[in-house]
Amino acid sequence: MEKKKLLVTGGAGFIGGNFVQYMVNKYPQYIIYNLDLLTYAGDLTKHREIEQNDNYHFVKADITDREVIFSLFEKEKFDYVVHFAAESHVDRSITDPGIFVQTNVLGTQVLLDASKQINISKFLHVSTDEVYGELDFDPTTFFTEDTPIMPNSPYSASKASSDLLVRAYHETFNLPINITRCSNNYGPYHFPEKLIPLTISRVLNEQKVPVYGDGKNIRDWLHVYDHCSAIDLVLHEGLDGEVYNVGGHNELTNLEVVKTIISTLGKSEELIEFVVDRLGHDKRYAIDPTKLEQLGWNPTYTFKTGIAQTIQWYLDNKDWWEQIISEEYQNYFEKQYTI
Ligand code: NAD
Ligand code: DAU
Repeated sequence: MEKKKLLVTGGAGFIGGNFVQYMVNKYPQYIIYNLDLLTYAGDLTKHREIEQNDNYHFVKADITDREVIFSLFEKEKFDYVVHFAAESHVDRSITDPGIFVQTNVLGTQVLLDASKQINISKFLHVSTDEVYGELDFDPTTFFTEDTPIMPNSPYSASKASSDLLVRAYHETFNLPINITRCSNNYGPYHFPEKLIPLTISRVLNEQKVPVYGDGKNIRDWLHVYDHCSAIDLVLHEGLDGEVYNVGGHNELTNLEVVKTIISTLGKSEELIEFVVDRLGHDKRYAIDPTKLEQLGWNPTYTFKTGIAQTIQWYLDNKDWWEQIISEEYQNYFEKQYTI
C-alpha cells in the first residue's frame, strides 16, 4: 500500500516542531514533509534525532512563493496538510504588521490554492483562540466555537483573516478542512520571546522579568504535547468543515505564571519588573473544549505538571536557548523593552 504523505508547514517552529516529532514517531507508515522558511523563529537543530528517519523530509521554502509551492504540491500530491507556518508573536505584529498579512493571510491563500489543485484528504489550519478577541474577568465565560470572531491585534486579525479564507475554500470549492483554535501553548522549544520561556531564561540568568501593565491579564495555558494530540485527533477524526477549540482549563494571571517559575527556580520575586502595557492588551482568554472532548480528546498535563516538565527541559537544554538569545534576539529585546 502506498504511504500517506503529510505536509507540515512551520515544522521548524515551536508547535510545528513538536508536532513533526510526534507524528514521525507515531506514524512510521506516513511520509512527513516539514516545509519551513527558517525565519528567526525556525530552527532545525531540534530535529537532529529524526533527520535521518526514512519517513522525514525537510523542504526549505516560503509559503508565499506560489510557484515553488505549486510545483511541490504537483510533484508530491500530499494527502494531508497541517498548516502551522505563521508569524506568531503579538508584540512583533504591533511594530511590524505587514509581514503578518503577507505570511499569515497570503501564505495561507497560496497553500489553499495549491491544495485545491490536488485531491487532498484534509487541510488542517492551526489557528488560535485570539481570533475571538478578549473575555472579561467573569470566570464563567468561555470562548466556544460559536463566539464571534473579533480580533484585536494585527496578529490575531491576520489569523482571523486566514481562518475565513479556509472556511471560504470549504464552502466554495468543497476543500476538506478543519480549523483548530488553541489557547496559549508552552513546553519544549518555545521561543524565548514569549512569556514563559522568556521568564525561565531571564530568571536563570538573574535578569529582570518584564511584566506588562499590572500582570492581571489571564491566559489559558496548554502543554504543547496536548496540542499535538488534539491536532492528530482532528486530522483523523474531525468532521469535515468543523472548527474545534483546544484548551485544558488552566487559567492563570501572568503574575501567577511568573511567580510560579521564580519560586520553582528558587529565586527572588524582586526580579519582577512592571513595564508599560502592551497596546490593545487582551484581558482574558479561556477555552471551552467540550466539542473536542466529545470527539475523544483529553489533555494529559495540568499546569502544575506541565510547567515542572518545561522548567526542567529548559534547565537540561541550555545550549538550545542560549544560542537563540545571543543572536537577532538581543536587538529585538533592546527595541521591545526599556529595562
Ligand atoms: P513559531 O513562531 O514558533 O513558528 C513559526 C514557524 O513558521 C517558524 O518555524 C517559521 O520559520 C515558519 N515560517 C514563518 N514564515 C514562514 C513562511 N513565509 N514560509 C514558511 N515558513 C514560515 O510559531 P508557533 O508558536 O509554533 O505557532 C505555530 C502556529 O500555531 C501559528 O500558526 C500560530 O498562530 C498557532 N498557535 C500558536 C499558539 C501559541 O501559543 N504559540 C497557540 C495557538 C495557535
Ligand atoms: O492564545 C494563543 C496565542 O498565545 C497564540 O496565538 C500566539 O501565537 C502566542 O504568542 C500567544 O499569544 P500571547 O500574546 O498570549 O502570548 P505571550 O507569551 O506573548 O504573552 C502572554 C501574556 O504575557 C500576555 O498577556 C502578555 C504578557 N507578557 C508577555 C511578554 C512577552 C508580559 O507580561 N511580558 C512579556 O514580556
